[in-house]
Order: sequence, then structure tokens, then C-alpha cells
Amino acid sequence: MTDIETVSVKQTILGIETSCDETAAAVVVDGQHVLSSVVSSQVDLHARFGGVVPEIASRAHTDLITPVVAQALVEAGRNGGELSAVAATYGPGLVGSLLVGVSAAKALSLTWGVPFVGINHLEGHLYAGLLEEPDLSFPLVVLLVSGGHTMLVEMRGHGDYRLIGQTVDDAAGEAFDKVARYLDLGYPGGPIVDQLAALGDPEAIGFPRPMLNEGYDFSFSGLKTAVINHVRKNPDVSAEDVAASFQAAVVDVLLTKARRAAEEVGATAICLAGGVAANSELRERTLGYSVDSGMRAYVPSRSMCTDNAAMIAAAAWWRLNSDGPSPLDLGAEPGLRLAFAD
Ligand code: KG4
Ligand code: ZN
Repeated sequence: MTDIETVSVKQTILGIETSCDETAAAVVVDGQHVLSSVVSSQVDLHARFGGVVPEIASRAHTDLITPVVAQALVEAGRNGGELSAVAATYGPGLVGSLLVGVSAAKALSLTWGVPFVGINHLEGHLYAGLLEEPDLSFPLVVLLVSGGHTMLVEMRGHGDYRLIGQTVDDAAGEAFDKVARYLDLGYPGGPIVDQLAALGDPEAIGFPRPMLNEGYDFSFSGLKTAVINHVRKNPDVSAEDVAASFQAAVVDVLLTKARRAAEEVGATAICLAGGVAANSELRERTLGYSVDSGMRAYVPSRSMCTDNAAMIAAAAWWRLNSDGPSPLDLGAEPGLRLAFAD
């Protein structure tokens, strides 16, 4: 394994991310300096269906991948021959969507004669924090909250992770999306609930805080059902109050467990990662906790929380120097998991 401190030649990596409904490409130097980061969202294409339609997503990725990569290179002022590697997310995600990014990255790596690196999307989210804050030191407790995953991870070093806890049912982002769909608020649910919650009273409705004092796992399915039942029984309830009270319950659980984990592990900092880390209340309360407790908190910029390719290029820099290039027969792995130490 290469010590990352000993890598002296500058490495410029093109990252590609197509695991779900964002077509993204970015050029990043040494896992830290973002020269360009282009994200083309397909939100408008999926909005009328109330969720991501896999067939539409993969077709849109096919249409968008070439212009998005071209724009990332132009904005970075680099051509293919100047790159050190081309990286792409190979899982987890939608198989048709992943295949577009993986195939494009392999084709470009062959064309330009540079290594191909396959990256786990979740590892990308973990590296988003390090990309913006290179001075962070280990161990870190990362609260990774996205549309498909909710986990607390102890990041002990580069590529060295311990799973502290995870959801036993719905992911936090999934709960936001399902509540928004039930309330007929539109898609994507998370940002809409976030905006609506700012206008409501977080104490108006006492929704449950599932598993609040039980270990480090999470459960959001019962909370989502409690919201639906409450709205069914009280059809005239204010949507703003429902959004604010629901959001307060989610953030209470997420932050309580993250704080406890960080204190128990002796972490140098808490880092937020994943799309739900763009949530205003989670961000504010995490920073508030940091001020009160002295525990450092790292809250990446919103665009670094949601899916992007800069985080993939950042993780790829570490992976390339640690494990070398990926084989060209690496395929898309929709169910790929993060490898955890005991
Ligand atoms: O990480 P991400 O962009 O994609 C996945 O890997 O899943 O996360 C998307 C999730 C969606 O469930 C979306 O509703 C949620 O993140 N999200 C938010 C906010 N912005 C995005 N949830 C709450 N508040 C937000 N502001
Ligand atoms: Zn993601």
C-alpha cells in the first residue's frame, strides 16, 4: 500500500458519476483541487413520475455523458492525454445507469491510454468531506445519509472503515421522499420538505424518535407511517407543521446517535455526507452542537453532499495510489457494499 504522503507527482483524475439520476463529471488534482465539477440533473425528467424511472435515467445518461465529460474537461482546461486516470462509480446504484458511466470511463481510459479506476459510490460520499477539508485527521465519525443509505461510519484512515450503525429499514432520504410524495409536495422530496419546514413549527406534532436510545442503528419506516397516519386523521393539518415536525424527529435521531458515536470513538470530528446532509436543520444543529461541545464538525457545501463526480475523483486518487488501476473487466455492481473492518 502506498503512503499517500509519498505521492509526489501531481495526479489529475477525471471522475464520472452516473449511479442514479445525476450525470456528473469532474476533474480533480490530487484528490483535493477541483478544476471542474459538472452535474446535469435529470430531476425534470422524473418529476412527473414522482421518483426515478430507471429506464429513463439510463437513456438520459447515454445522451448526456459525452457533453458532460466534454464540459468538465473544457472547464478544467485539460485534455484527455493530460489525465492520470479516469474513474467511475461502479456501484451501488441502478444497473443501467451505472453501466453508462463505467462503459464511458473504460472507453476513455483505452482511448487516452490512462488507468481506469472503479469507485464505490458510498466511498465517494465519504471522501467529499476530505476533499473540501484536507486537514481533517482520523478517526472521523461520518454520518452518511442519502436516498439509499443511512449509516454511521468510523473512518479510521484512508480506506479503513468500521460500520457503527445503519438503518434497519428505510434510508433517511427515502423517508423524506416518501413523506413528500404522500403529502403531494412534489419531487424530489428532501429539498421541498426542507423549504416547507422552515415555515412550520417543529414542535407542533410530537412524532416518534425511533430507536433514539437504542444503540446506533436507525429506523425510519415507523416514523414515515406515523406522519401518514397523522395526516389521515387530521386532513386540515398545516403541511408546514407536518414537514417541520417530521424533519425535527429525523434530525434528532441522526444527530443524537452521531454525537454519541463521535464521543465514544474519540473522533476528531463529525462529518456529514450524502444528499440528506444538504438539509438545513441537520446542518445548523450539527454546527450548533460543535460550538457547544467543542467537537469539530464538518459540514460540506450542499453541492458536495448531493451526488457529484468530484467526490468520485477524490476517492479515486486514494484508491489509485493504494490499490492501483481497476481491471477493465470490472462490471457495474448495483448491490455493491462498502468493505468494513471488524
Ligand atoms: O446522495 P444523494 O444525492 O443520492 C443518493 O446517493 O441517494 O441523496 C439523495 C437524497 C434524496 O432522498 C433527497 O430527497 C435527499 O437526499 N435530500 C435531502 C435534501 N436534499 C437532498 N433531504 C433533506 N433535505 C434536503 N435539503
Ligand atoms: Zn449518493
